Amino acid sequence: MAKNQASFFLLVAIVLCFACFPSQAAIKSYQFDVQVSNVSRLCHAKPIVTVNGRYPGPTIYAREGDRVLINVTNHAQYNISIHWHGLKQYRNGWADGPAYITQCPIKTGNSYVYDFNVTGQRGTLWWHAHILWLRATVYGAIVIMPQQGTPFPFPQPDREEVIVLGEWWNADVEAVENQGNQLGLPPNMSDAHTINGKPGPLFPCSEKYTFAMEVEQGKTYLLRVVNAALNDELFFALAGHSMTVVEIDAVYTKPFSTEAILIAPGQTTNVLVRANQAPSRYFMAARPFMDVPIPVDNKTATAIFQYKGVSQAVVPILPVLPAPNDTGFAMDYNRKLRSLNSPKYPANVPQTVDRNLFFTIGLGANPCPTCLNGTRLTASLNNISFVMPQTALLQAHYFDMKGVFASDFPDKPPTPFNYTGAPLTANLKTAKGTRLSKIAFNSTVELVLQDTNLLSVESHPFHLHGYNFFVVGTGVGNFNPAKDPAGYNLVDPPERNTVGVPTGGWTAIRFRADNPGVWFLHCHLELHTGWGLKTAFVVEDGAGPDQTILPPPKDLPPC
Ligand code: C2O
Repeated sequence: MAKNQASFFLLVAIVLCFACFPSQAAIKSYQFDVQVSNVSRLCHAKPIVTVNGRYPGPTIYAREGDRVLINVTNHAQYNISIHWHGLKQYRNGWADGPAYITQCPIKTGNSYVYDFNVTGQRGTLWWHAHILWLRATVYGAIVIMPQQGTPFPFPQPDREEVIVLGEWWNADVEAVENQGNQLGLPPNMSDAHTINGKPGPLFPCSEKYTFAMEVEQGKTYLLRVVNAALNDELFFALAGHSMTVVEIDAVYTKPFSTEAILIAPGQTTNVLVRANQAPSRYFMAARPFMDVPIPVDNKTATAIFQYKGVSQAVVPILPVLPAPNDTGFAMDYNRKLRSLNSPKYPANVPQTVDRNLFFTIGLGANPCPTCLNGTRLTASLNNISFVMPQTALLQAHYFDMKGVFASDFPDKPPTPFNYTGAPLTANLKTAKGTRLSKIAFNSTVELVLQDTNLLSVESHPFHLHGYNFFVVGTGVGNFNPAKDPAGYNLVDPPERNTVGVPTGGWTAIRFRADNPGVWFLHCHLELHTGWGLKTAFVVEDGAGPDQTILPPPKDLPPC
């Protein structure tokens, strides 16, 4: 009896011990084999580049505080690099992944271990290839759970599901990209949108390529929605159910209910959904948002929200998605996004600015004798179309190699003009260069991104590596430095890593430059990135011991 009691108490002590001590940070290891696999969609089978033969690739699961090691082995014929989109990689740009920015790509037959800590972040992010157009098929979700014992700051869901939106081409994506480059024109648009790699039954031969999630009446589901499409901003909705937005880009938001979400390439959105409707089958659907007459793949991808026990013969109902050109919905939706800004999750918005930057986004046409129209479409920031270097910029910076890049990217456009006035079609010649903007460590930066009407206005989702930023203001027309800052939200603006600059408008972001390194800033429409709509910040080292770039790992790929 006494012996039994003793072992009972020992057991209780052990259980208590596990419950009350915060779990130690763990190491999560993954093997990513980049390989060519045959995949069939829309009645076509073709070889695509995948990770571990999966499309989409595997989800990375980690907990806040973990160290993650991902050994990427390249078996494909292309050079590869993988970016962990939204991970801050503090002092550790070596693990960031954009080819020729923070590393040289991993050549065929070689491996590289991405080794990073997940610090101060929790939520949904994603990973993707960051070279050529390979991210069309090489992508997957990253789920970072809060620390053990820390609940979500919203009703705990009964279950969760990753919903990754993508684009599918029947042709080989690299061939599509090359053809566009040769012609100097936009390449062929995609043939389908996908949900978890599947287009859904509105497409031919797609009955069996339909993603379905089974739900139970009365239960609550957390959908972790990622837009991994190359070129399309998307609306996403679920028939018959409203969604509550609780997180964007791995930052908690003030919850609000909506019939549809707007999600740009690069962004993530977590929504809660309650299965509280008549048991049936309901479509989830995604379709592009495009509010200027630029052709896009406007086809609708669908997946099924399937109540348990309902016959597969029931034809699902489609949700009402906003019209493809519904600017009003888009503006309204973005206005509702607010940081949670609670004592536990404060929004530390920089209240003063050390460095003011104003970058114009322009499309242009440079002479190209071999191109179809004698010109090649280009894109630029402050009239500079970025030229990719041959050596990775982070190495060039760290080892102080001369001649790889210049640090003279202008803080404002060379010549001011009426940015969003009548379309400018003359003098579209764009300068070229590998020019970066140097930022002092720990300075507060405000960057206003201004869309222009060079050729055409268009909405551009901008992504900054190495940081989250606060979206303090946005508007239509030309940014007015005398008036617009008065309307900024410096209390609870959305904090994210990718933000849409509205069509013919501007967006102001702020961040504290506390992460030394070379950090890519680019439009997340792959088409525009390829045309040169990108630059990078060189954030200098600080004076403290923890304020310098870490030494490069031994296995960093050579160029
Ligand atoms: Cu998600 Cu530089 O990209």
